Amino acid sequence: MKAAAWFLAAAAFAGSVAVAEAQDYPTRPVTIIVPFSAGGPTDTVSRLVAEAMSKDLGQQVLIQNVGGAGGTLGAGQAAAAAPDGYTLLIHHIGMSTAPTLYRSLQFDPTQDFSPVGLITAVPMTLVARKDFEPNTLEELVAYIKENGEDVIYANAGIGAASHLCGMLFMSAMDAQMTTVPYQGTGPAMTDVIGGQVDMTCDQTTNTTSQIQGGEVKAYAVTTPERLPTLPDLPTTAEAGLPDLDVTVWHGLYGPKGMPEEIVTKLTASLQTALKDETVMQRFAELGTEPVTDAEATPEALSELLNAQIAQWKPIIEAAGVYAD
Ligand code: MLT
Repeated sequence: MKAAAWFLAAAAFAGSVAVAEAQDYPTRPVTIIVPFSAGGPTDTVSRLVAEAMSKDLGQQVLIQNVGGAGGTLGAGQAAAAAPDGYTLLIHHIGMSTAPTLYRSLQFDPTQDFSPVGLITAVPMTLVARKDFEPNTLEELVAYIKENGEDVIYANAGIGAASHLCGMLFMSAMDAQMTTVPYQGTGPAMTDVIGGQVDMTCDQTTNTTSQIQGGEVKAYAVTTPERLPTLPDLPTTAEAGLPDLDVTVWHGLYGPKGMPEEIVTKLTASLQTALKDETVMQRFAELGTEPVTDAEATPEALSELLNAQIAQWKPIIEAAGVYAD
């Protein structure tokens, strides 16, 4: 009898500690894992959001870059973290393509995370080194059809948005290039500008200033409408590739089992951060915008993630692309 009473007392005490911790959260710095190297588009979005959330929460919100395997290494590390609200993840459309691309994925995106909310959806741009011969998307397609695997395409690994865009591009052309994987498209962009590789498809959060500054040659943007930040850049539809229509949505997650009170606090902080003047201005300058409060919720993120997994599965299977 005594042991049972002690057990109940201990359980009650532990429960009250957990409630107190959730009420006082955060009492120390929070880490957001970014599953790509520093300097790329995911890192750029994440650091802007982290800075604004830090102001709101009154605690440091730090970025930890964990690159590799198209974002799946960093996502796996976040899934395995303690569900205490001090380790989070910002990842993008790659959460919805990984389950089809990776036969031995170390996590289930729909089961192993606590969704917090959507952040933004970023257009993609086809860009090349500035002395690359083709000048229009039509010329680029003809050049790749003729030179195929002599054309070097940089991406951030199987499962990255830059990989997805390249896969859609090659499928639409029915032509293959040689791909070179990086830990993120930050370093990939350095090599496009330096001429070590020929081209990539990357998010406007990592190509807008390079295009505006003439450091790279741009061919098209993967959205139905032209962007006000790049008004002279045709859409893929205008340039004859309407199927190359993709924007890169981003979400904030914690590990599965995060206390509801902490999820609610983080969702509110994310919504505040997405109205931060600096976030709104920088997102606009980089060709994107924050989502609405209704989209910056666990429900909206979970609904989009499930829908996107279903949408991309047949497309990836038709392309016959897998990672072991
Ligand atoms: C990608 O998916 O290509 C990533 O966004 C690259 C990055 O953020 O570095």
